[in-house]
Formats: sequence, C-alpha cells, structure tokens
Amino acid sequence: MSNFNYIKSKYEIKKMRIAGKIAAKVLEMISNHIRPGISTNQLNNLCHDYIVHKQKAVCATLNYYGFPKSICVSINEVVCHGIPNDKEKLKNGDILNIDVAIIKDGFYSDTSKMFIVGRTSKISKKLCYVAKQSLYLAIKMIKPGLKLNELGKVIQKFVESNNFSVVRDYCGHGIGRNFHEPPQILHYDNEDNSSILQPGMIFTIEPMVNIGGHNVYITSDGWTVKTKDNSLSAQYEHTLLVTSNGCEVLTLRSDDNIPKIISHY
Ligand code: MF3
Ligand code: CO
Ligand code: CO
Repeated sequence: MSNFNYIKSKYEIKKMRIAGKIAAKVLEMISNHIRPGISTNQLNNLCHDYIVHKQKAVCATLNYYGFPKSICVSINEVVCHGIPNDKEKLKNGDILNIDVAIIKDGFYSDTSKMFIVGRTSKISKKLCYVAKQSLYLAIKMIKPGLKLNELGKVIQKFVESNNFSVVRDYCGHGIGRNFHEPPQILHYDNEDNSSILQPGMIFTIEPMVNIGGHNVYITSDGWTVKTKDNSLSAQYEHTLLVTSNGCEVLTLRSDDNIPKIISHY
C-alpha cells in the first residue's frame, strides 16, 4: 500500500480531468437510449462502442477481476455490480443505476447515476432524489482539513432522516493510476478520526441507499449485489478532486445540479 500516492501531481490532475470528462459523457450519451424494451446488454454495447471507438479509451470494468462487461447496470433491488445481459430488458417504472468506469492514457475515472424508465412510483423518485442529494451534501463539505469520517456522518444522517438506509458493504475509494486506491470513503458514521482531506487527493463518493434495511447479498453469478429484503436501491457516484479551498467534480454532467468547482472562503 505504501506505493500509493494520495496527492496527485499537476500532470496527474490534468489527466484525471480528461478521464473524468469522458466518463461523464458516456452517461450523457446513454441517457438518450433509456426506454422500455431495450436490453441491458444493448446499453452495454452502446457504451462500449462509444468508449472504445469515439473516446479512444478503455472500459475499466471489462475483465476487472473477471467482470465480463463494460458497464454495470443495476435495476430496482439490485444495489450494484449488475451484469448486462440480453434477457434483461428495461420496463416502465424501473429505476436503474449505470456505473461507468474508464481508463484514458493510464488514468481511471468512475461515475454513476440513476435513470427512471417512463413513469415510476413516488417512493422510487424519492429514493433516487435522496441518494443524489446525499452525494451532493458530502461533495459540498469537501475541503482541505476535513476529516474523512465527516462525509459518512453527513450522508448517513441525511439518508436516515428520510427513513432510508445506507449500504455498509461497499465504499468510495481513491482513484488515479489505479481503479481502487486508498483511502476508503465510508458512507456511514465511523471511528476513523485520523484521515484528513488534503489538496490534490482524488477519490469517489458513491452512496448506495435502500428503501428498507442496509443488508445486502451477492447472488449466484458472483457479482450482482441485491438488497436482502428485496427493497429498491439507488446510487450516485462522482470522482472528486480536493482543491486548495473546496473541490472539483471531475465527472460533472450537464444534468447535475451542483457547480463543477466549489470554493469555500
Ligand atoms: N464502478 C464500481 C465502483 O464504483 C466498481 C465496479 S467493479 C465491477 O467502484 F467489476 F463490478 F465492474
Ligand atoms: Co467507484
Ligand atoms: Co463506479
């Protein structure tokens, strides 16, 4: 672990900005294809071709520890790491997460968002909203000197005040020349009092929020994570750079409701 450098150089930050923009564009592109009847593998193939041929980048999840596809698609009670396939087709009322991770010029970026297929229930919409706002709340707190565990505290408090729960089994992560680097970013209250944000750190925040309990399990395919109680789950993820006085959202999209650069004076 001692080989990991938490603080990125100017050069690395420049490269991470480029990688972040590409991952964001993949999610913008695929939004035009979300409709009842399309299969999750069609979504995968559209993203794959766009990443490889249009962006001249590499799909980071493809063959990652044996993961067989270029994106993760996680529908309804699937929490994360859903494997795109031909059988599974989007239907009216579904909520789904598409998680895109790419490598450009040796640098990774990682981002995800929820999509709603047609019309869905009030509670599904609220779930997606709360997941997104919990990420935004944490992003707005980022600045040098902040203790890492403050991020988890704020996410958990907001989510639970809405009577939802935060998944404990997966966390955000440092990212750079590697997909997953230290530090780990927990999305719930924790005892880590010693990790402190510093300018030049780049990491993801990616809270998974369930309508029911926080417990999850991995299904028989070895990847797909589902809620234990079969309740709906939602997740948003951004790759973030700690600046001298706030943060920069490296994977910002046109549909995001926060500024790309957040400064605290
Ligand atoms: N994109 C996920 C993350 O946010 C990791 C997916 S790994 C895969 O960290 F193998 F499941 F694709
Ligand atoms: Co991630
Ligand atoms: Co991801």
